Amino acid sequence: MNQIHDAVRQQFSQHAKYYAQSKVHSEGETLGVLVDFAAPNGTEEVLDIATGTGFTAFAFAPKVAHVIATDLTPAMLDQAEALAGERGLQNIDFQVASAEALPFEAESFDLVTCRIAPHHFRDVPQFLSETYRVLRPGGLFCMVDSVCPESERLIEWQNRVEKLRDHSHVWGYPPSQWREMIEDSGFRIEDEVHTHNALQPFSWWADRPGNSPERVQRIRAAFDELSPEEEPIFAIRRAAGEFYFAWPMYCVKARKPDLS
Ligand SMILES: C[S@@+](CC[C@H](N)C(=O)[O-])C[C@H]1O[C@@H](n2cnc3c(N)ncnc32)[C@H](O)[C@@H]1O
Repeated sequence: MNQIHDAVRQQFSQHAKYYAQSKVHSEGETLGVLVDFAAPNGTEEVLDIATGTGFTAFAFAPKVAHVIATDLTPAMLDQAEALAGERGLQNIDFQVASAEALPFEAESFDLVTCRIAPHHFRDVPQFLSETYRVLRPGGLFCMVDSVCPESERLIEWQNRVEKLRDHSHVWGYPPSQWREMIEDSGFRIEDEVHTHNALQPFSWWADRPGNSPERVQRIRAAFDELSPEEEPIFAIRRAAGEFYFAWPMYCVKARKPDLS
């Protein structure tokens, strides 16, 4: 375990109930994109990495043979297991695991999914290398993450804002860097979708236990640094003292080549 993993566990243990109720996570359109990418036929053995409170695992479970849902934070897995029970899903197993050291044999899965989590990972190339290792030849890796625009200024801005709000945020990349890292790991990219997550009210997003009113004010002030031309990139809408925004999301379908 290392400092980043400790920060992730501390942060997500504190907020496990928030994630269990989050519409961005339970309903976002990116769940449908992942299912469309994978087009499951009912026989797949699936690994969902950083499952959080389980929504990606739940989207796949009725359409595949079996899902192993892993996460670094036991408190998130507890929420996921309870929600799976409420939904009557019986083909999901839950297991604590780090994305950078997957406790599975090589070539064990037909499909690996990971949604709205890699920006918390200490070592993304290691996560990609582990994903490649556990996939069968010809298997699919389908991922969604919040990404930054292709602009040095906005990459710095978005990562600064995310870290102010959540100290377990590590780094959000622009799509061009994701492409490069995924292809460098040996995958072939077959499809991409660029979208936004669901609009979220700033105060719901920023004002969480552990963030003082002063910190929330600093995060709010950071949004004022955006120019009128930059605001649409984050889908900013203002209404009655509140504002709403959405991060850009990158969805990618990549295949481990079958070289046999
Ligand atoms: C926003 S939640 C994931 C949301 C979920 N995938 C979904 O679709 O609703 C982020 C999760 O990443 C997990 N996480 C962060 N770093 C991790 C790592 N290195 N290995 C495994 N899980 C990690 C956290 O514990 C947290 O549960």
